[in-house]
Amino acid sequence: MQCNKPVYITTPIYYVNDVAHIGHAYTTIIADTIARYSRMIGYDVFFLTGTDEHGQKIEEAAKLRNESPKVYADKISATFKNLWDDFDISYDSFIRTTDEHHKKGVQVAFEKMFDNGDIYKDVYSGHYCISCETFFTKTQLVDDEFCPECGKSTTIVEEESYFFRLSKYQDKLLAWYNENPNCILPKSKRNEVIRFVEGGLEDLSITRTSFDWGVKLPAKFDDQKHVMYVWLDALMNYVTALGYGTGEENMKYWPARVHLIGKDILRFHAIYWPAFLMSLDLPLPKHVAAHGWWTRDGEKMSKSKGNVIDPKEVADAYGIDNFRYFMLREVPFGGDGDFSQKALIDRINSDLGNDLGNLLNRLIGMSEKYFDSKINSKNIAKYYDSELNEVNESISKLEPFLYEMQLHRYLEELWRPIGVANKAIDKYQPWTLMKEEKTEEAMALVALIANILARVSIMLYPIMPVVSKKIANALNFEIDNGSWKNFAIEQKSLPEFTISKIPPLFPRIEEPLMAVYEPQKNNEKQSEPKVNEAKNDEGVALIGIDDFFKTSLKIGTIVQAEELPKSDKLLLLKVDVGEDAPRQIVAGIKEFYAPEALVGTQVCVVANLKPAKLMGNLSEGMLLAAKDENGLHLLRPEAPKTAGTPVK
Ligand code: MSP
Repeated sequence: MQCNKPVYITTPIYYVNDVAHIGHAYTTIIADTIARYSRMIGYDVFFLTGTDEHGQKIEEAAKLRNESPKVYADKISATFKNLWDDFDISYDSFIRTTDEHHKKGVQVAFEKMFDNGDIYKDVYSGHYCISCETFFTKTQLVDDEFCPECGKSTTIVEEESYFFRLSKYQDKLLAWYNENPNCILPKSKRNEVIRFVEGGLEDLSITRTSFDWGVKLPAKFDDQKHVMYVWLDALMNYVTALGYGTGEENMKYWPARVHLIGKDILRFHAIYWPAFLMSLDLPLPKHVAAHGWWTRDGEKMSKSKGNVIDPKEVADAYGIDNFRYFMLREVPFGGDGDFSQKALIDRINSDLGNDLGNLLNRLIGMSEKYFDSKINSKNIAKYYDSELNEVNESISKLEPFLYEMQLHRYLEELWRPIGVANKAIDKYQPWTLMKEEKTEEAMALVALIANILARVSIMLYPIMPVVSKKIANALNFEIDNGSWKNFAIEQKSLPEFTISKIPPLFPRIEEPLMAVYEPQKNNEKQSEPKVNEAKNDEGVALIGIDDFFKTSLKIGTIVQAEELPKSDKLLLLKVDVGEDAPRQIVAGIKEFYAPEALVGTQVCVVANLKPAKLMGNLSEGMLLAAKDENGLHLLRPEAPKTAGTPVK
């Protein structure tokens, strides 16, 4: 199965205004997983990552350190590259937007868009958020000043600018989303993008004159005071890395199979980027896949709170493979995730130690004790056909989960064979079989376990490359295209072999291995005491806009409602908040609403509450309501809104 199909996988290029944290590691690890799997099955993979080095944000970060932007960018870019090398990330190319070939490619693209009639010169007047490197209209701002994305103050900008005719591509973009239901993953995110584009697209200002740390316009424009808008510059990296515009193109990898990104930069990748590509007459990517946001112990990570997690520290303390497993298993792709040492330790001790590690230890122990470590697979089907079938069925289901970015489901399914193997040992008890002198049956059982572990290690390789190779070594084979084909696809058995003894892969962890971070209580925040102490005339504490934006409010449609039998107060609801599946919410509104009257109505949902159990039922959100002497009433939108619409 050596098909050599070109597969191009990208991460975002990371801003060099700061060093990497676990959010960056997460995107990169997912991309690495897809790349490793694709290589193993014989695809010709090109995996790109790199750094985004131009723009006002970087210029200012360098100024703060009294360094030139390039010297500063060199340093931070190297920290990203070193980190990925430490993590053995299998990238094929590391692009920097300060690379000469990239700058040339961006200029060529600018010229081509201009020649296509998609660029014109005008005056821009608007509000700019330096942190997000994004323009906003007045109506998009919060309180006429603050950025709707990050809550920071915006600056008024009025300057001459070149514009890209984004508006011209509105219908073509909508046609792309409609004709390619999987172009944006997860699917719920595609709906958000469609709604945004249907709301109307304005032309995009794509040059700036107020600073100069950026790619200059092509010389023929004779307009050197302009530099390119950092997002035009940055997005182009996906094709300049293949040599676009240099005359030495390696465009066989284009279009990308998947651009992996975080949800905060979806608009740039799902709207601007395809529009730029249309203007350049280039094919559009197959998938733009947007993952969720990582918090730490329930809090947003930020430098001022001192709670940013260094991925290297985690990997050094817990092992890179364990960290990879945790990140991919812990959160459904697209959902937000919370990092805590407790959650990581639980996963290591339970899924990895108890389930996988223990299985390997049992296998090594049994084979040594009963068969001098020699394993022969010839009678597995004779005694354990149903176990084998169950395992094969799970293994054959895995691949689509991976390419649909459902990595948590991939791992969930991969753990089924491990369960089958552990159960088979408990059920058939090799020690009893040996006592009863059923040696052939006992050998077949040991071989069944070895073959299950072989298949599991192959399919686990993209996620846990180091550990999987150790398991394969113990089982006397190597993980590569050949063994993947033989054992995972054609379901062949391992040849007769002698198992090697290896030390336990996942020693139990009893205590946190990194300094424990204590989340600060709200009124103890050292960095912002003044803000938290502020009160209004009625003595009510005032909060900053950042605090308000921590709450994600969404419009939800109630799709199911029923009473909780033993409760006077609670109803069990299913509420569609625009995600792949409705959320279950337990609400204390039984005295005020009959369940049947709620179905089909809309409510306002607090969507980022930590899930909690109420009377044994998981509740994944809260409804907003107002209660006075006239009773309780739910807050509802004045007119119907699409489920998932944010409330701001
Ligand atoms: N430079 C742009 C991307 C340009 S791509 C053409 C950029 N850089 S970034 O460094 O700010 O962010 C890079 C990625 O890290 C984004 O995908 C972002 O979503 C992700 N993350 C940053 N913080 C994160 C978390 N706390 N959690 C998860 N991912 C987060 O945007």
